[in-house]
Amino acid sequence: MTHEPITAFKVWVADALSAVESALQAWLPRDAPAGLGDAMRYAVLDGGKRLRPLLALGAAESVGGGRSEAVMRAACAVELIHAYSLVHDDLPCMDNDVLRRGKPTVHVRYGQAQALLAGDALQALAFEWLLAIPDEALAARLARRLAQAAGHAGMAGGQAIDLAEVGQVLTQARLEEMHRRKTGALLLASVQMGAQAAGADERALAALTAYGEALGLAFQVVDDVLDVVADTATLGKTAGKDAAADKPTFVSLLGLDGARRYADALLSRAHQALGTGALARTDRLQHLADWVVRRTH
Ligand code: IPE
Ligand code: IPE
Ligand code: MG
Ligand code: MG
Ligand code: MG
Repeated sequence: MTHEPITAFKVWVADALSAVESALQAWLPRDAPAGLGDAMRYAVLDGGKRLRPLLALGAAESVGGGRSEAVMRAACAVELIHAYSLVHDDLPCMDNDVLRRGKPTVHVRYGQAQALLAGDALQALAFEWLLAIPDEALAARLARRLAQAAGHAGMAGGQAIDLAEVGQVLTQARLEEMHRRKTGALLLASVQMGAQAAGADERALAALTAYGEALGLAFQVVDDVLDVVADTATLGKTAGKDAAADKPTFVSLLGLDGARRYADALLSRAHQALGTGALARTDRLQHLADWVVRRTH
């Protein structure tokens, strides 16, 4: 199903990661007052798989685009929203985590108030980066898409369900809704925004939307599995947190094997979505989907 050799994909990933790191380094502020800039840079730099930017760049290439300014801004803006969501997710009032990306969490290092503000500032900065795209109509379209994915209909709404459902046994439909919002929405937006920034037509966007929906859900199913089977050192975040906090997860609902089978089914769905002939190239996105489901951290 995947035609490009894995070695070529790895070369592409290394090159894309280096472009993303350079852009993040260059665009993140150094002059935010009272230590806020340090907390913001700490939250974003030196860690993270950068899956969302990679999906944005892969989606841009799938419709024949390259790494234009608009594509890079879209890729990095999504990563900022993701980084902010992690800072807030780790706060004592949410998941109360002390380790993230192999480092002490932002509130452990800088205090809760600064972590809250760093998250706030990163969210605002994501939109500033998008709205600097010279094509104003495109900038507005991308900003709207990102706002929808980050807000009540997406990540923040999903996080609210996550916290409200502690200790509950959810139906599969409700659990899917939670996952789709809290994690899936931003991953889907990465794919869509990368493609939109590269001028995708409606047919390509429809295929990419089906791909992004399946992949976004698969990603959180695998996150739930890894919380159970991986160790803290490999994950770079505390393992076993979901069961300890009595979170509803796909593992608690379906068991480990059931959750793995579900992730595999979603992976097939993602591959199929790419095979409709609507896209100029699909190899990067095929490999990225495999990586999401087969990853070890
Ligand atoms: C972790 O996301 C949080 C979830 C949305 C489940 P990632 O696994 O992509 O975290 P980083 O960016 O690599 O640290
Ligand atoms: C977090 O989900 C999703 C976000 C919106 C940040 P988790 O709480 O499962 O993420 P981890 O496991 O802490 O990375
Ligand atoms: Mg959480
Ligand atoms: Mg968490
Ligand atoms: Mg998790």
